[in-house]
Amino acid sequence: MERDILIQEVLRLKAERQAVILAHSYQLPEVQEVADFVGDSLGLAREAQRTKAKVIVFAGVHFMAETAAILNPEKTVLLPDLEAGCSLADSIRPEDILAWKQDHPEGIVVAYVNTKAEVKALADVCVTSANAVEVVARLPKDRPIFFVPDMFLGAHVARVTGRKLDLFPGECHVHAGIREEHLKVLLEKHPGAEFMIHPECGCGSSCLFLKPDAKMLSTEGMVRYAKKAEAKEFVVATEVGILHRLSKEAPEKTFIPVKPDAICEYMKRITLEKVYLSLKEMRHVIRVPEEVAKKAQRALEAMVAVG
Ligand code: 13P
Ligand code: SF4
Repeated sequence: MERDILIQEVLRLKAERQAVILAHSYQLPEVQEVADFVGDSLGLAREAQRTKAKVIVFAGVHFMAETAAILNPEKTVLLPDLEAGCSLADSIRPEDILAWKQDHPEGIVVAYVNTKAEVKALADVCVTSANAVEVVARLPKDRPIFFVPDMFLGAHVARVTGRKLDLFPGECHVHAGIREEHLKVLLEKHPGAEFMIHPECGCGSSCLFLKPDAKMLSTEGMVRYAKKAEAKEFVVATEVGILHRLSKEAPEKTFIPVKPDAICEYMKRITLEKVYLSLKEMRHVIRVPEEVAKKAQRALEAMVAVG
């Protein structure tokens, strides 16, 4: 089908199904363009919770669609491609949490939203990169805390809050690949640029030795910051899908990716054609077993309430 016709069909089916399309900022530009809302994990979770639409087409990855289904169990949540997973969410199993809990019966488990529902069900609270610092800073000071599964985000949160965290050694293969040496090259080439770094990046806190005024931001935080900052040039350390939104929302500014091949193949599995097929055939419905969903819902509701 020709692209223009495909877009028209998506919009027609969307209205017919009373659906809403929610897209993450790492999605392909043409998918972002047909979405009703484009945002980071926190914004998408909130949007999924508040929407009045009957159907949510989730242009993102599996854990995001699960999160939407848990927060809004009345709705039908569709994921256009079931292979849209996440290496970070895959890095941790429920058994890893249970083992830590056995050794720390009074401990608190903080789960990054990039986890499967079964892991969230064992957590006390979920966080996203946009509110992890704020959530952890509010936790009781006299109990051990297990932060799972992203060790780079965890280290960032521990540094900013001054809290001691037990870190699970998980990572996202895309962000872990963004390292200090990539930053060094860009720092030499663009000494006047502002640096925006996603806290999942492998350069982690060490990048602050190279560039002490670098901003550690979620994807939405990057868009917000770039719009209001005076600088004209920004070096961006995260998945490159964000560049479409940055250039669209701050067209007068220049954005340079730290690593142009930082591409999440899971996010890119969602194409315009698959969004169309998803609406046409109502596939693939994401269902979370009720018992798991109920437990995970508590931790997720605590997450959307902060930040
Ligand atoms: P945010 O968009 O919440 O910053 O998360 C980044 C990410 O890796 C999502 O998978
Ligand atoms: Fe998961 Fe990394 Fe892809 Fe985000 S960029 S969905 S954390 S694999």
